[in-house]
Amino acid sequence: MTGAVADTTPGALAAAFSAAYGRPPDGVWHAPGRVNLIGEHTDYNDGLVLPFALSHGVSVAAARRDDGVVEVRSAQTGGTLVTAPVTGGTVVAEGWPPEHAWATYPVGVARVLSERGTGGASLLIDSDLPQGAGLSSSAALECATALALCDLHGIEIERAELALLAQRAENEQVGVPCGLMDQSASLLCTSGHALMLDCRSGLSSPVPFAPADAGLTLLVADTRASHTLTGGGYGRRRAECEEAASQLGVAALRDVQDLAGALGSLRDPVLRRRVQHVVTENHRVEATVGLLRAGAVTELGALLNASHLSLRDQFQVSWPEADAAVDAALRAGARGGRMVGGGFGGSVIVLTATDRAARVREAITSSYERRGWPPPRFLDAIPSAGAHRVN
Ligand code: GLA
Repeated sequence: MTGAVADTTPGALAAAFSAAYGRPPDGVWHAPGRVNLIGEHTDYNDGLVLPFALSHGVSVAAARRDDGVVEVRSAQTGGTLVTAPVTGGTVVAEGWPPEHAWATYPVGVARVLSERGTGGASLLIDSDLPQGAGLSSSAALECATALALCDLHGIEIERAELALLAQRAENEQVGVPCGLMDQSASLLCTSGHALMLDCRSGLSSPVPFAPADAGLTLLVADTRASHTLTGGGYGRRRAECEEAASQLGVAALRDVQDLAGALGSLRDPVLRRRVQHVVTENHRVEATVGLLRAGAVTELGALLNASHLSLRDQFQVSWPEADAAVDAALRAGARGGRMVGGGFGGSVIVLTATDRAARVREAITSSYERRGWPPPRFLDAIPSAGAHRVN
């Protein structure tokens, strides 16, 4: 999905639904995208993450159907219709054409949730989240659909469990081996807070995060280098972490207590780097939570910078536009910055004094100009509410 309908209010989406399907929707649901403050590539290592929800996201207008069919239209692709049975094998095995790739997410969710008693629906989907920006447009689409289907069919599922089901839809139905962070963030985040999630126990707690109260702004810059989890790099990193855990004799890299000992016992330098990142990144999440709970948001910069360097040099998932953006921001006086998400493209976050934000933005934009890259797109990152019914 690339653009949004001109008017993205729930009322406009409901009207567009009526025009597309010849009947009004039963409701409109919204699920946000997310930015991960810190804790990257830790979720599938049973580790810790600290995302927050954006005010941007995916909205779904939906009406119940009782004939076992799910039909999906995107408000952005001229209303193209994709129709599929709610039960069946995995969508990925059906080999849909690339132009229907976006529809594998809602249909995949409908298939997984049908095991829990939901049925068919007509859906119209809209988004004001840039796709490929590493801001979890896929998870937002899954979660808005999941919430709509549960409400329409009167099925109650705890949000933490719904996040697991949405993740399962992406893993099994779409064929992307993502972790649990994005779906949890979209469903569990609360306004004014980040979400500390322990990906082993599934336990989460809100952590106050209000940079504006401290005179700070958290900028999100979409570097316009498109990110995808299906490119192979993400899956390879995940496999390397599993291999390292197996060589170290632990269930997951979360369990590495003695980092120096672990690094000494691994022979492969690539696996050593991966372990170094994951173990230190978990510590950085704990340190960040400590600072936020102590009201010391102004001191986050160093942790963000350390996370970026670790992702760049140890985990090796950064990309030139991200490095240039972080570098330019720091030179312009920002307190810290780092790439976010799976890597190989997508967005960076930058923490800066609000009265310096315009200068930081200009510095990033002119560093791109000098290199002949398209200008980055900036988004206001306001810690917002998780998925909910809008009307
Ligand atoms: C993507 C995945 C998440 C997580 C991040 C990296 O966003 O969907 O599960 O692994 O990358 O932290």
